[in-house]
Amino acid sequence: PLALGKDILDKARREGYAVPSFNTNNLETTQAILETAEALRAPVFIQVSDGARKYAGLENLSNLVRDMASRVSVPVALHLDHGADYKMVLQALRAGFTSVMIDASHHPFEENVHETKKCVEAAHAVGVSVEAELGRLQGIEDNIVVEAKDAFLTDPEEAVRFVEATGIDYLAIAIGTSHGAYKGKGRPYIDHARLEQIAARVSIPLVLHGSSGVPQWLKDKMRATGADLGDPTGIHDEDVRKAIPNGIAKINIDTDLRLAFTAGIREVVVGNAREFDPRKLLGKGREYLKQVIKEKFELMGTVGRA
Ligand code: G3H
Ligand code: 13P
Ligand code: NA
Ligand code: ZN
Repeated sequence: PLALGKDILDKARREGYAVPSFNTNNLETTQAILETAEALRAPVFIQVSDGARKYAGLENLSNLVRDMASRVSVPVALHLDHGADYKMVLQALRAGFTSVMIDASHHPFEENVHETKKCVEAAHAVGVSVEAELGRLQGIEDNIVVEAKDAFLTDPEEAVRFVEATGIDYLAIAIGTSHGAYKGKGRPYIDHARLEQIAARVSIPLVLHGSSGVPQWLKDKMRATGADLGDPTGIHDEDVRKAIPNGIAKINIDTDLRLAFTAGIREVVVGNAREFDPRKLLGKGREYLKQVIKEKFELMGTVGRA
């Protein structure tokens, strides 16, 4: 059934596993997420971005996810991903979301606190959980000096003040991950020492954005159908695994789903010039989505936690 974000994540941090938060835009992705979660007895977050809202409509996605979630036995949170402002958060609350993110992290600290606090008051008044972000998501360059890192990664002491001043339920932090399929050269550097310092001071669940792995099997499938990807890199599985005992309880994945869905569609289109039944294209995409979603639940230790 539909569940509150806080209930899912408090348990995850307490028991030392993480819950993936997958972006959806459509029926097939939502089916792949919920069927896999149900089969693996895993709690899950389904999140709606600004791009998803513009593509499919907030009400359409909300109604689809809430109806489908009501018919599975595992807990499902419907989450607003990177809510731009107070107005967006109110729209999600009205549409029945059980978790919202206000992302005012690009503003100076005091303004971030002010915006976030307003959203917490509104969301908590109707019992909905809130995520906010401190720091800026950006890859860490090879020979970057400490002061330069401090300029955009989350400061542990500031994190304590932010959580106390805002009353949020979970905190998104910046430790070197970044959005998209190009997260840096080689193995992107993740500041695990900083994460440890944050986890020692902040007891609410922590959130890691930009956590797609860009797995080899998906790069191979894309390239086999002629896709021109350049040199994509994701976060290594080992870095995701290592972050979880240090308080990371919610892990956002979008890019890997985009790759999986598109790989399946491309395979049918390129491999069978006579096929024009869209269900065959999307069906293959959904099959690869399920595969990559299963891998995420296994990586994060979510299997059997529902
Ligand atoms: O955080 C960003 C997500 O990957 C969604 O991006 O707004 O293009 O759907 P989008
Ligand atoms: P990826 O681009 O690494 O999948 O990150 C998605 C994300 O953080 C959405 O909020
Ligand atoms: Na940010
Ligand atoms: Zn994000």
